[in-house]
Amino acid sequence: MTRTLTIRRPDDWHLHLRDGAMLQSVLPETARHFARAIIMPNLVPPVVTAKDAAAYRDLILAALPDNADFTPLMTLYLTEGTDPADVAAAFADGLITAVKLYPAGATTNSASGVRDLNNARQVLEKMAEIGLPLCIHGEVTTHEVDIFDREQVFLETVLDPLRRDLPELRVTLEHITTAHGIDYVRDAPGDIAGTITTHHLMINRNHMLVGGIRPHYYCLPIVKRAEHQLALRKAATSGHPRFFLGTDSAPHLDGAKETACGCAGVFSAPNTMSCLAHVFEEAAALDQLEAFASLNGPARYGLAPNDATLTLEKRAEPVDYPRKYHTPDGPLTLFDPGHPLHWHILD
Ligand code: DOR
Ligand code: ZN
Repeated sequence: MTRTLTIRRPDDWHLHLRDGAMLQSVLPETARHFARAIIMPNLVPPVVTAKDAAAYRDLILAALPDNADFTPLMTLYLTEGTDPADVAAAFADGLITAVKLYPAGATTNSASGVRDLNNARQVLEKMAEIGLPLCIHGEVTTHEVDIFDREQVFLETVLDPLRRDLPELRVTLEHITTAHGIDYVRDAPGDIAGTITTHHLMINRNHMLVGGIRPHYYCLPIVKRAEHQLALRKAATSGHPRFFLGTDSAPHLDGAKETACGCAGVFSAPNTMSCLAHVFEEAAALDQLEAFASLNGPARYGLAPNDATLTLEKRAEPVDYPRKYHTPDGPLTLFDPGHPLHWHILD
């Protein structure tokens, strides 16, 4: 039995495209299904200034396949040396859509992130004044805090104080992984929203650790207990306007994942829409998939939803996604949802 679902073309509100050969390899996968994406700035070196963002945007546009209809929405990487005037000018020019806060040391290439938010105070004040959103990697990096508690502690010790201090600041809490994060974003007063990844909807820490360690499920924030996964599913499939898709598709070559000290990141761009349809169908909420993937994000960023559409079709035979992608620098493993996916995307 086939079943089809047509939604407005989705956008990805949190994506790592990298540069060089990796960019060439992964960009067509996102551009196939998504019309726009917020591009993470954690390159080496990071995208810090308007000039960096313009150069990175041009690199992405040059790497697009000829027939692609895809717009990269650029971000700047907040540092303690960021110039408020440069940020404001980049926003006024339409060059950037958001600024990204990585607490220093929180994740891949975050060494130049912010150690003390007071040292970025002038930039944050300027952003609050001009309505430029701050996308936040919401984890403390304090050594003593358990890795599974880092999001919850961040909410209490960093995010809430920051938002009380600067209530006009527009905040997107990225890749929410806990019920605490969901509750905070849903219920907090003021201007806040949150993204949820594909993989955090589909796996919990048992999938990563029971029966052997699965490095391709290692990401940051780390996947949590099943009860948190359920809270994420409930929020995503509820259609609540504060929650929308940010895949956090973050490619690393197999050699960097399958090693004694593996990198954090899950590559999910190619099969995200099939995964999401699976999750939303399981929740009997296919009617909310469009809100999560295609409507809530643009509304949050003051953009119109895409006019183009994407059609998904459920078939008896599973979709034949490759297990690995072959980049010029080596193999790259696709996110494995652990079961067949029956929702095909009609290109
Ligand atoms: O798992 C992750 N990978 N989390 C991040 O925050 C960064 C990302 C990356 O760049 O690889
Ligand atoms: Zn990310």
